[in-house]
Amino acid sequence: MLIHSASQLLTLAGDPQRGRELGRLGLIEDGAVLIRDEKIVAVGKTADLRAAYPSEPRLDADGCVVMPGFVDPHTHLVWGGDRAAEFEMKLAGTPYLDILAAGGGILSTVRQTRTASIETLVAQARPRLLRMFAHGTTTVEAKTGYGLQTATELRQLKALLLLEDESRIDIAPTFLGAHAIPPEFQDDPQGYTDLVCETMLPIVRQWWETHAPGRRLPFVDVFCENKAFNLAQSRQILEKARRLGFPLKIHADEFDNLGGASLAVELGAVSADHLVKTSDADIRALGRSETVAVALPCTPFGLAECEYTPARKLIEADAILALATDCNPGTAWNESMQFVIALACRMMKLTPAQAIAAATINAAHAIRMANKVGSLEPGKQADLLILSVPDYRHLGYRFGTNLVRQVIKKGRVYSVDVGYYRTA
Ligand code: NIG
Ligand code: FE
Repeated sequence: MLIHSASQLLTLAGDPQRGRELGRLGLIEDGAVLIRDEKIVAVGKTADLRAAYPSEPRLDADGCVVMPGFVDPHTHLVWGGDRAAEFEMKLAGTPYLDILAAGGGILSTVRQTRTASIETLVAQARPRLLRMFAHGTTTVEAKTGYGLQTATELRQLKALLLLEDESRIDIAPTFLGAHAIPPEFQDDPQGYTDLVCETMLPIVRQWWETHAPGRRLPFVDVFCENKAFNLAQSRQILEKARRLGFPLKIHADEFDNLGGASLAVELGAVSADHLVKTSDADIRALGRSETVAVALPCTPFGLAECEYTPARKLIEADAILALATDCNPGTAWNESMQFVIALACRMMKLTPAQAIAAATINAAHAIRMANKVGSLEPGKQADLLILSVPDYRHLGYRFGTNLVRQVIKKGRVYSVDVGYYRTA
């Protein structure tokens, strides 16, 4: 199929976009892309591809922007229930970590997740996943972390495998057994840390090899934060995970700077995420590393806080910056990467081009899937969006509504169209 007559075809071709290179869209005016089966075969000018492939079935992009599907590299997709009541407590001034310390917050979702069957977990996550897809996300990372006990953590992993099977959406799983100290270990955080290392991680590896044979191991992530896991405990868990062959991620500097970002760099983690309170020294360390810095602007927005990831500083330090939703029931229940881009432009001062690169090719690097997704290049998976806008800058400029006309996933077209924007 030849998708042609895109006002702007954004290829995002090439390497991860580091530092000031961020924002290289690879823009082709009056562009076209040829896809066959699940793959991209060619990109170029409409006139050239029409001439080269005269008898291919056609899809007229009709003056719309065509770009890669969004990659959302940080979500907590599978959970039970909601925390609507806590939202009002937060608005009334109770801090997030105080709600957690009082047995609410993440622990409230843990209670609602532990009692949910696999069918319930899948049924509750499905509309979130489909809402992500309708808003243009074609690949998503998703974490466990609402079980904090082996059986429920494995049930979350199983839910992710089932959701991927039924949806065609690529899901990159992450084991986040170290998301909070569970109620049974409230007085013994070190005991839970040891349990994660000595019991849970080996079981997860074995379970994965049985239930997802031949597939790359999930990421292992830790919430390195006061009232969660301190730096020494985070190191213990990540070092153990690394010895078992898991690729690493970390939640660092969301509320306090504990040194998690530099730990991520030292251990060769694939990404360090949040990075709101990150020190200048940690920013420099990220800038010299391959660890992708993942900013989550929905999180301060969701918590009604004013401080965001210092993206301009990360860019100046030459870091690889990516964006994600952090979709979760506590701080950021939002499925739309378009909204993330709008926030990143306003609150982190990214240009639309920078935010788009951070939400596609760099986000693919943040989950080690850039060999397959994140850009429109021959050989990559045919995951792309037709947006009902004439210029890419409408992403960022507009917010809170869906600009997707069609999502194309592994070569198959799904329509979400509500009509066009036109100048003439
Ligand atoms: O990334 N900070 C830790 N984890 C999530 C929030 C999870 C929750 O509150 O349920 C985050 O913000
Ligand atoms: Fe998170």
